[in-house]
Amino acid sequence: MMNSLFLKAAFSQQTERPPVWMMRQAGRFMPQYWEIKNKYSFLEMCKTPEIAADVTMLPVDLLGIDAAILFCDILVTGEAMGGDLDFIQGVGPKFSNPVRTAQDVENLQTDVSDKLQYVADAIKEIQHRLNGLIPLIGFAGAPFTVMSYLIEGGSSKDFKLTKLFIHNQPELAHKLLAKIAAVTIDYLNLQIAAGVNAVQLFDSWALALSWDDYTEFSHNYNKEIISKLNRKDVPVISFCKGSSVFAPLMAEAKPDVVSIDWNADLKNIKQILPKGIAVQGNLDPHILYADKSVIKKTIHKLFERMRGEEGFIFNLGHGIMPDIPFDNVKYAIDVVKEFRY
Ligand code: CP3
Repeated sequence: MMNSLFLKAAFSQQTERPPVWMMRQAGRFMPQYWEIKNKYSFLEMCKTPEIAADVTMLPVDLLGIDAAILFCDILVTGEAMGGDLDFIQGVGPKFSNPVRTAQDVENLQTDVSDKLQYVADAIKEIQHRLNGLIPLIGFAGAPFTVMSYLIEGGSSKDFKLTKLFIHNQPELAHKLLAKIAAVTIDYLNLQIAAGVNAVQLFDSWALALSWDDYTEFSHNYNKEIISKLNRKDVPVISFCKGSSVFAPLMAEAKPDVVSIDWNADLKNIKQILPKGIAVQGNLDPHILYADKSVIKKTIHKLFERMRGEEGFIFNLGHGIMPDIPFDNVKYAIDVVKEFRY
């Protein structure tokens, strides 16, 4: 397994081509996903190891990616802590009991590993099916991003309530973040013990924050989490939208890989990061709507620029959108797999 392209690149070794996987590679852009999704609710899919394994395997079997990612969601930690979570078709995630007061924070539980045991069961089932073919990536939401869903009660455009919370009630925000961080450490270590080969911390909405707020309310907790993972042979990937700006701070938390959004010149970022930290990214997923010639040209341009860099995993700058043509995703992966430096 340590010879897989993905793990070699994650540990900053040279590979003959960049390995490829895509954030949200198991999802609604796949007709086969809908065949399963039409029968179950999203949370039922996450919580039934057989179904979670079926969905995890879709991009392995249909796209030929170089790493699988566990089928689950970043919000299951918030749910295990006491959030009343539902995924509403066409709307997205909803917590019907948002966290707004000191009592709400107090009520959240932190000893929740038993409630997340279904994730360990899914990982064992997936590893059984993968049978050593490619590595399996586990993941969790970073405390700031999970906190934003708990406070807003769902997705948000401007994170108004979350920002008001951290600015007007910083001590309470730190209490909440510390609770989520404690759960996240246990949860990722549970995934590692169950057999994942890498873990990714998703801090999708860090981009909403100023440098100082990111440092205080996000980075410090991500750093603590990364420092407390049982990570021997298990690389840690740190992702956020906003990474084009925050990459130097993200690197300071000492992950093995920093996953970069599509704004930055990836080579530039790679060169300012300390040696030994790999980069992942950073195609704008909108390129996958475009003509195949554009897809190929854009990927080749990125690879030419990254030539000679050790530690590069090809991915998107953010997840695949549900209406991106399946054929284009498959084409992009084939372009990567046919490339040689
Ligand atoms: O990448 C994968 O294929 C693995 C599974 C995965 C899902 N969510 C499945 C999912 C992963 C890694 C996530 C992470 C996640 N979830 C993030 C971080 C990544 C990112 O996109 O920034 C975030 C912010 C969430 C929260 C979330 N979950 C939202 C906002 C939504 C609704 C909007 C949307 O994009 O679908 C979800 C639901 C969700 N999570 C779906 C899937 C396949 C769609 C559920 C459905 O079928 O309706």
